[in-house]
Amino acid sequence: MDPIELSEPETAGSTSVERAIATRESRRSFARTPVELEDVAQLLWAAQGVTHQRDGVEMRAAPSAGATYPLVVFLASSATGVDELEAGLYRYQPGDHALELERERAVYDDLVRAAMGQEVVRDAPATIVLTADYDRTRGQYPEHGDRYVHMEAGHVAENVHLVGESRGLGSCPVGAFVDDDVTDALDLPAPLEPLYLLPFGNRSSDQ
Ligand SMILES: Cc1cc2nc3c(=O)[nH]c(=O)nc-3n(C[C@H](O)[C@H](O)[C@H](O)COP(=O)(O)O)c2cc1C
Repeated sequence: MDPIELSEPETAGSTSVERAIATRESRRSFARTPVELEDVAQLLWAAQGVTHQRDGVEMRAAPSAGATYPLVVFLASSATGVDELEAGLYRYQPGDHALELERERAVYDDLVRAAMGQEVVRDAPATIVLTADYDRTRGQYPEHGDRYVHMEAGHVAENVHLVGESRGLGSCPVGAFVDDDVTDALDLPAPLEPLYLLPFGNRSSDQ
């Protein structure tokens, strides 16, 4: 299947960063409506989209120690998750701002189990999965590389939450899951390790 080209990122939203910080909270219930692909594109761009070039390197939306960019971002979509997308696992390609189908089979129920059945993951139509290739950063920073990767995941997650907040979506950071079960559920290729789940969706009426 050809990569799915995503819509151009919007860089002038109508909500200020301060407003998004002030109203952001972890939201754990979602409307039953599929998320628009345009909103997903904006979240993925906020996570790892290319924002500019420096010395011939494509720099991304979140800071990265030594610009080593160890994080690989996936989108796990449930059957009714995202408009125009089949259920499955997709890999975000920052350079092309595109999604590539990684696993055609439905992975979502297995992902929910790997997150110990947490309602927030089950209820969400889709989840962004942050994974890391630690060696990319360890190579440059043998002592602090692992720490830097974790810090970077925090930057990325907050970008996603704030952009989601500014677009009227809800999201929640999820760190409680069984690593091996997430790896198995998504059949993650080595050396990628799962770090963070970011379930999201349209807000339910009580949010
Ligand atoms: C590293 C990390 C891991 C978290 N893991 C979970 C989780 O597994 N499940 C969950 O429901 N919330 C999780 N949270 C969300 C916190 O419970 C939430 O951020 C906290 O209660 C503060 O509330 P707020 O986000 O609404 O400000 C996590 C937050 C962080 C920063």
